[in-house]
Amino acid sequence: MKRILIRGAEIIDPSGRISGIQDLLIEAGKIKKIGRMIPDVETETTETIEANGLAAFPGLVDMHVHLRDPGFTHKEDILTGCEAAAAGGVTSVACMPNTKPVTGTPEILEYILEKARQAKAHVYPVASITQDMAGETLSDFALLKKHGAVAFSDDGRPVKNARLMQTCMEEAFRLGVPVISHCEDLDIIGKGIMHKGSVSKRLGVEGMDRSSEDSITAREIALAAASGTAIHIAHVSTAGSVALIRDAKARGVRVTAETCPHYFMLTQDALLKRDADYRMNPPLREQADLEAVLAGVLDGTLDCIVTDHAPHTAEEKADFETAPNGVVGLETSLAASLTALYHTGLLTLEEIARRMSTNPARILHIPGGTLEVGAAADIALVDVNREWTVEPQALHSRSKNTVFKGCSLRGKVLYTLCGGQIVYRGSDHHEMKGE
Ligand code: DOR
Ligand code: ZN
Repeated sequence: MKRILIRGAEIIDPSGRISGIQDLLIEAGKIKKIGRMIPDVETETTETIEANGLAAFPGLVDMHVHLRDPGFTHKEDILTGCEAAAAGGVTSVACMPNTKPVTGTPEILEYILEKARQAKAHVYPVASITQDMAGETLSDFALLKKHGAVAFSDDGRPVKNARLMQTCMEEAFRLGVPVISHCEDLDIIGKGIMHKGSVSKRLGVEGMDRSSEDSITAREIALAAASGTAIHIAHVSTAGSVALIRDAKARGVRVTAETCPHYFMLTQDALLKRDADYRMNPPLREQADLEAVLAGVLDGTLDCIVTDHAPHTAEEKADFETAPNGVVGLETSLAASLTALYHTGLLTLEEIARRMSTNPARILHIPGGTLEVGAAADIALVDVNREWTVEPQALHSRSKNTVFKGCSLRGKVLYTLCGGQIVYRGSDHHEMKGE
């Protein structure tokens, strides 16, 4: 494996132990040395990346991704999903089990991990809480953990039966694995396809009330408090859930949470044009929710920024009312977060790296989230000031259902290294340098 010398990057390390403009020497897949002016080594075996003006982030860890493989590879597969990850500076993904068959057997875990060996990102499977995600019988957590599951979730739907969720948490506690909860009360949701509010009324479609999310967030916190389990609340979208999580943390409950860029950047107004590309679950809500989610990101109530990358084809998204929920996000999450949080002066680059890399790695007990010497060379080199327009057709993901289509974002990934290999090179880097 080639050595790589990254020259003159601004180090973004959330640990705060390393900072400033430094060179990074990558050897055997690891960060071997960090320092100023590392001397050139034999050039035939070393590739030098001139990173003048670029920020070196620890590779992003996206703990909520739907890779759709096996079963829905017309939307995405493990390789295309990881290609999208690489283009977004994401070097580790946790993939959700709503595949076909469901990721809930050693065979499917082995299939995913085997295929992922060829992929451009590290893949960490999340296994289903219930067999077939049917909400009836608990999966064999110990067996699935042994075969590589890093967490358990029935994401895409809630575990309806509270008693079963209680058993899930007890079992997860015993094994020391996190549970990720998709908080949604399906009875309250009914036939809702978007947030229940002024826009759903105006469009004449059924809405999803906030209470559908808040009530299950409250339930999960109560169950986690009783069992001692670490519960992670997925894709928080409401002011109510943020308040519940903030209060639970203050009481010492082991709860962590995530949100996605669209929940702190967009509201239900985006759906006025009846475009299903803006439909996801939970849905885009109101200004007050957006502000509460943003406040939660800023004060750390929401530990992580993830994508909930949920590819669906253009055909599937063609009809506003019948389209499946979900949006892609791997290639825009860092740029969107930099635009909304860094260029507005709300967070530093280190604080963004903590939410997009260090915290999710810690929650899942997986490597990553640091640029310290000895760590795997999972690195994103980013021009944080570079503006670009999101063109869906240019995305590497097999599906193009992005809420940021046509948007100008500020911050572009120019190189991604995963395990010491260059897995992505932004094609416009050199052109740019001459500007
Ligand atoms: O919008 C969503 N899409 N929310 C989910 O919970 C599941 C996901 C999917 O799998 O498409
Ligand atoms: Zn979900």
